[in-house]
Amino acid sequence: MITNKSSCFVYGAPGSFYARLFSRNSLHFVHSCYALHFLSKVPEKHVNDKGSVYITSSSPQSTYKAYLNQFQKDFTLFLRLRSEEIVSNGRMVLTFIGRNTLNSDPLYRDCCHFWTLLSKSLRDLVFEGHVSESKLDEFNMPFYDPNEQELEEVIRNEGSFEINDLEKHVFDLGLSNNNNEEDDYEAGYNEANCIRAVTEPMLVAHFGEDIIDILFDRYAHHVANHGSCRNKTSVTLVVSLTKK
Ligand SMILES: C[S@@+](CC[C@H](N)C(=O)[O-])C[C@H]1O[C@@H](n2cnc3c(N)ncnc32)[C@H](O)[C@@H]1O
Repeated sequence: MITNKSSCFVYGAPGSFYARLFSRNSLHFVHSCYALHFLSKVPEKHVNDKGSVYITSSSPQSTYKAYLNQFQKDFTLFLRLRSEEIVSNGRMVLTFIGRNTLNSDPLYRDCCHFWTLLSKSLRDLVFEGHVSESKLDEFNMPFYDPNEQELEEVIRNEGSFEINDLEKHVFDLGLSNNNNEEDDYEAGYNEANCIRAVTEPMLVAHFGEDIIDILFDRYAHHVANHGSCRNKTSVTLVVSLTKK
């Protein structure tokens, strides 16, 4: 219970969470919010899926294995580094974008998945001559959306933390409750702005800034056209851990 006498120290640490950030045995509670689905890099030796920035249903199994492998390496490193910084019995709550286990095909992502729609918007720009096909083929997202089993397996194998609870929640950037076209249009722009906030620096570094406004205009349009989709692959996974 927090009382008036409790102290809370807030500290901004520069650097990547895939490196040591805090002193040994100094943290009582760690929370990471919607960040650990970002990998330290796009997996090496991954067979490029033409015209797509992420895994799709037509990707080879080797693409899935390469992304999973990179996630296992990165998340294992994150757990080991934080285990050095967290006191014994300290807690950690991690919130991720994950994927549903409803579809057993690890390549399957629904038609309105944010990276599917981003790929579609980039292909529009290729068609319209704003982006070259080869430039699009070279770009991939340093991202992985684990399912619950994949997440649990890394935590168990790394061995520093006990799992107290693992919950799955809805992940929705804004379309679920829409009833009419006007709402879909507005939700399209809202989702486009969310995805733009997250991806703009990566996209500008690869494609340059001239395409950004037009790209997210196309993106908003595609989201609005998917207003009636209900079976989403993306979920929010929340895992609560205690340091052994
Ligand atoms: C979607 S934002 C979430 C921000 C915030 N936690 C929140 O919930 O509003 C993801 C954040 O993760 C950060 N991020 C991604 N990879 C990182 C890394 N390796 N080390 C530190 N931060 C990282 C990004 O810079 C970005 O700020």
